[in-house]
Amino acid sequence: MPLTPNATLPRRQLLLSAAGAFTAAATKAAAMPAGITITRLTTGPAAVRMIGGETPATELWTYDRLAPGPIIRLPQGKPFHAAVENRLAQSTTVHWHGIRLPNAMDGIPGLTQKPIPPGGRFDYAFTPPDAGTFWYHSHDNGLEQIGRGLAGALLIEEAVPPTVDRDLVWTLQDWRLDPDAQIVPGFDNRMEAAMDGRVGNTVTINGRLPATLAVRAGERVRLRLLNAAIARILALRFEGHRPVIVALDGQPCDPHEPADGRILLGPAMRVDIMLDMQGEPGRTYQVVDDFYERLSYTLTRLAYDQATPLRPHPLAATRQLPPNPVPRPELGSAVLQEVRLQGGMMSGMGRMMGGGTWAINDRSMTGDGSMSMPPLLRIARGRSCILDFRNETAWWHPMHLHGHSFRVLSRNGAPVPHDAWGDTVLVRPREHVRVAFVADNPGTWLLHCHVMEHQDGGLMTTIDVI
Ligand code: C2O
Ligand code: CU
Ligand code: CU
Repeated sequence: MPLTPNATLPRRQLLLSAAGAFTAAATKAAAMPAGITITRLTTGPAAVRMIGGETPATELWTYDRLAPGPIIRLPQGKPFHAAVENRLAQSTTVHWHGIRLPNAMDGIPGLTQKPIPPGGRFDYAFTPPDAGTFWYHSHDNGLEQIGRGLAGALLIEEAVPPTVDRDLVWTLQDWRLDPDAQIVPGFDNRMEAAMDGRVGNTVTINGRLPATLAVRAGERVRLRLLNAAIARILALRFEGHRPVIVALDGQPCDPHEPADGRILLGPAMRVDIMLDMQGEPGRTYQVVDDFYERLSYTLTRLAYDQATPLRPHPLAATRQLPPNPVPRPELGSAVLQEVRLQGGMMSGMGRMMGGGTWAINDRSMTGDGSMSMPPLLRIARGRSCILDFRNETAWWHPMHLHGHSFRVLSRNGAPVPHDAWGDTVLVRPREHVRVAFVADNPGTWLLHCHVMEHQDGGLMTTIDVI
């Protein structure tokens, strides 16, 4: 069972960390005159102060000694170069999650590149076609490397951004910390791996234990939520507010309020919201995560200053984001591929090929991928494809496809409204979900669950676009 997060830390520390909580995120990437953005990223161990007060800093694995890594902001449609140097004691790669990039830049060890050895270097180069909220993370021993901090936000900026007063990102990470704020070892717990994965006890926002976010009445904030946890699912409720969802996994949707007021974020998922600060000056409102039954907790608080509202009515500007150049799948002529998710505790399931705990269509691709396994599907470039997920397990699975964005068509046969797209779709226990995409990006692409233990334990396969 998941532990209640943020409950064991003394209140004094909560207060002490307030000042830094929302300012700590560093931004990097230098734009060159030619429009090329060049950056360097160095992986390595570092101690990061996440809790504050007298609690020691946490020993993590980091990009540029930061956890999360530096926020990388890039203009849409302009070339990007990143020289990655590995100063960890083990090999690594960088995956640019959600970006529709060339296969050779996808960062998959043994599939798209050789792993970067300790002391080694790899140069990534691509041009992000879509604006939106994306992220980067290790894809080598990802369970432990992401779990120890190797993740960061990757923001691709619209040529004409929407009108807002502030543009903020919350990179949400979940850690299992001991009383000295050190990572509890044991990333290979087989029992947890067969259930909901390694859910921790401390959720941070931008690498700090969050206390409050200072806001002003009347302002409109674009808030980019990124779940960079290895297992924890979040369901955020903004007490006293009506957030409007404007993008899912970076892709714009029809602006809408979440059905039951909860913003659901499985691991790897991003939700951009527009938040009009309609609360009263001087008051404080809670942001609650109540995904796990009986384990709801206050993630952070919105603290209004005493100033009179910035404007009497919410901003009139549109919340709709400009469209991205993603091709729309043709459903009539699409290839239909069944994707049965199998395994885990309470599955009543026998042994699977490959010996994993989990499987897709009776096969288990484990670890970071065993590339000798045949692909789930071979599809001609340009064809449309419907992935028909059938969750035969008792667990939730955020299913992620590399190299493409898909449209979410239906859940248990009911059409999904608001023109919802994504690269990761959260499939509920026993649920049946259909997504569709145009297979326009040649190469071998991973399709896997983003609960890292599930991926590791066999909930992974590949799709070949030829
Ligand atoms: Cu976030 Cu296989 O990726
Ligand atoms: Cu990915
Ligand atoms: Cu899963």
